[in-house]
Amino acid sequence: MNARTPVGLLLAVLALSACQQRALLPASNAAPLLPPAVAYEAHEAAGGRVPPGGTLRNPHQGDPAVAANGALLFTTMNCDGCHGPDASGSVGPNLAVRRWRYGGADAEVYMSIFYGRPKGMPAFGGALGEEGVWTLVTYIRSLPKVDNLATESWEKP
Ligand code: HEC
Repeated sequence: MNARTPVGLLLAVLALSACQQRALLPASNAAPLLPPAVAYEAHEAAGGRVPPGGTLRNPHQGDPAVAANGALLFTTMNCDGCHGPDASGSVGPNLAVRRWRYGGADAEVYMSIFYGRPKGMPAFGGALGEEGVWTLVTYIRSLPKVDNLATESWEKP
């Protein structure tokens, strides 16, 4: 599937996927908490004065079982339809090279998936809820680091 897929079909796929997901996701997912505005850790703050913002912590950080679930979800939700197998890039950017447009910290990747991004990244927070999005963040952050990059990674540690 590519970015030109009719919206109706995409919604049907999402609805179907949501049914399949129930087994993967806990029941608490039904009423997701709204995340606060996050402090974008990778942004430069003018005058060194960081504006107030929430901090989101990944409850599953580094958990290989959750990352494996996330890999399944990445396929089920058709993330790979746009981002390619193993997130290697297609009509959507490669998510393994760690060159981030919107930041690669857990909270920033979370916001990209939860609320979407303007140049073609759908918002999945409504369909997946908090737990589903953290599962995907855990998977993306577990992708093996690609060492032979042509240019330096933009991600700050
Ligand atoms: C319809 C195609 C499409 C689908 C489906 C899609 N993406 Fe994206 N995604 C994009 C595009 C295009 C961008 C770049 C958006 C931009 O630059 O504003 C993007 C951006 C992102 C980013 C931000 C990358 C950065 O450099 O900061 C993340 C993270 C991401 N997608 C994860 C996912 C995940 C996880 C899924 C599945 C739940 C998914 N995407 C499904 C097209 C898609």
